[in-house]
Amino acid sequence: MRGLIGKRIVLTGGASGIGRATALRLADEGCVVGIFDMNEAGAKETAERCAGGKAMAFKVDIADRAQVATALEHFERERGPTDGLANIAGWDTPAAFLDTDDAFWEKVIRINLHGPLTMHHVVVRGMAQRGSGRVVNVASDAGRVGSSGEAVYSACKGGIIAFTKTMARELARKGVTLNALCPGPTDTPLFENFTNGTNLGDALARAIPLRRIGVPDDYTGTIAFLLSDDAAYMTGQTISVSGGLTMV
Ligand SMILES: NC(=O)c1ccc[n+]([C@@H]2O[C@H](COP(=O)([O-])OP(=O)(O)OC[C@H]3O[C@@H](n4cnc5c(N)ncnc54)[C@H](O)[C@@H]3O)[C@@H](O)[C@H]2O)c1
Repeated sequence: MRGLIGKRIVLTGGASGIGRATALRLADEGCVVGIFDMNEAGAKETAERCAGGKAMAFKVDIADRAQVATALEHFERERGPTDGLANIAGWDTPAAFLDTDDAFWEKVIRINLHGPLTMHHVVVRGMAQRGSGRVVNVASDAGRVGSSGEAVYSACKGGIIAFTKTMARELARKGVTLNALCPGPTDTPLFENFTNGTNLGDALARAIPLRRIGVPDDYTGTIAFLLSDDAAYMTGQTISVSGGLTMV
């Protein structure tokens, strides 16, 4: 892919799952990655495993503006201005909506909606000022077609899709592109928490045309592409990568 070598990418959720696999892939492509995750040990381990020796790990709660701003300032002071942002951090646990309460809603919204909004507000501002940047927001097919037991999470992910389109319109003339990637069910700690020892994963695999649930590496090429110069003429798009589970 063109234009990735030396690109500075801020990536959230890099301590685990899809975020970790993406950090490793971007480093392999020659990017300099700043890993923002509240799991400091996991983020550091990812940074150490990244090719090139230039990745940096930061303990950041993505919904805490001061922490995001401090980490960004540190990353840019050490490595230079940010070229790309991959918002990958997320969280959910299954619950029927009518059994949930306000405290649960607030936690889910804080991580899956408020956090990405804060990341944009802090990181994308510099891109708009500099006149170039690429953003990839990892949403979910839950935000396109719904997912039982994930009502509030689905609302957040649908919100991220709409937000991505709106920001793509607002920032097109500033040279910043934004696209959303929607994974389907994927073998990560988040999904393990969702299946909780049941055979839901096998049942889903039978419903997926490509006959398996995803693995983190299924998404890294698409994210790298969306951050590359090959995607320069794409903005405001929503791409499902889900083995054909959804075709919308
Ligand atoms: N696994 C799936 O089936 C699936 C399906 C669709 C979409 N997704 C989305 O993919 C993304 C990655 O999920 P995953 O499955 O790799 O999960 P994961 O649990 O393996 O990793 C999530 C990471 O986000 C970090 N994180 C959570 N809250 C944070 C916060 N407030 N601040 C900073 N970091 C925080 C965690 O520490 C963790 O490292 C998420 O946005 C998730 O919603 C996952």
